[in-house]
Amino acid sequence: MSFWAPGEVRLIFQAVAQAPSVHNIQPWVLELHERSVLLFERWDHAIPRHDPKGRDRLMSCGAALANLELAMRYLGWETTTTLFPDRAHPDLVASVSAVRPRTPTSTERDRYLAIPYRRSQRFKFDGEPLSADEIRAVRHSLAGERVSYHRVTGRQEAEAVATLSEHSAQVLRHDHRYLHELQALTIDRGKARLGLPADRIAHGLFGGLVHSGDPVPEHETLTSLIARECVFVVETVDDTSRDHVAAGKVIQLAWLTATRLGLAASLITQSLQVPEVRAGLSEKLQLPGFPHALMRFGRATRVPKPSPRRQFADVVRES
Ligand SMILES: Cc1cc2nc3c(=O)[nH]c(=O)nc-3n(C[C@H](O)[C@H](O)[C@H](O)COP(=O)(O)O)c2cc1C
Repeated sequence: MSFWAPGEVRLIFQAVAQAPSVHNIQPWVLELHERSVLLFERWDHAIPRHDPKGRDRLMSCGAALANLELAMRYLGWETTTTLFPDRAHPDLVASVSAVRPRTPTSTERDRYLAIPYRRSQRFKFDGEPLSADEIRAVRHSLAGERVSYHRVTGRQEAEAVATLSEHSAQVLRHDHRYLHELQALTIDRGKARLGLPADRIAHGLFGGLVHSGDPVPEHETLTSLIARECVFVVETVDDTSRDHVAAGKVIQLAWLTATRLGLAASLITQSLQVPEVRAGLSEKLQLPGFPHALMRFGRATRVPKPSPRRQFADVVRES
């Protein structure tokens, strides 16, 4: 008899499947073993122009890892995680072991239960500022092992982020290889199991993904938009694979915390894939670490439909 009951396998699969991923490529495979679950990175959907070093793909695996650990905790296991446990298999990102029975904490339970409701909210927020308690909760969840954050504060910093975002848009909307990749992963709602539904992308510089025809918004408008929003830069102490996984995990935990509070969020890594934008962000915001993403939090004006996901047989591998 298998250690995992069929219902538990489904629950673990569902949790991992709903994690966010760059361009919704869902770059992971699971193997369930006696008392442990292995999370592998898959390389079959590379997006070399958008993500030349695979940083976003590993961050996506980090987000999936957060959901995997939460699912195992929800099932009543204390877990321990080993990152990159086998040098011979560099695609093995994490091994999560079920150590001993332990009831989940209320935070773990709340985060697990928020998994199906989390969405990328690329559209404008309603403008209502977050309360001090909401900001504290988000801040608290954005700090983790190897990971910290910087809140974009004041007009000067907002202007720096606006200028860098404008620059990335200017670069990307003329980059045919980048545009081709985005186009290839833009889908109509149909049978596609990965990729970005066309009605979910949102156009524009901040919050949405850049397209060829997108206008660059007026500088002052963009600056005041960023100044009004609650925007964080997520950074890590180093720039290794472990840091990328750790960043993805913390991002997902913060996203679930926000979802639980009824807040919306979206993640922007696109502009940071333009090297001078990433360097400029470090310099202008005087970041001590390596920035990976901008994360914006607010209140949604509309709740987007879920994006499609891979099916069970494409994610869970027989061990
Ligand atoms: C590492 C990573 C990078 C991402 N980068 C961007 C981005 O630059 N812009 C964006 O609009 N969404 C970005 N996303 C969000 C994904 O596009 C989104 O998670 C995916 O399409 C699935 O949709 P969902 O989050 O609503 O489930 C990113 C997600 C991850 C995990």
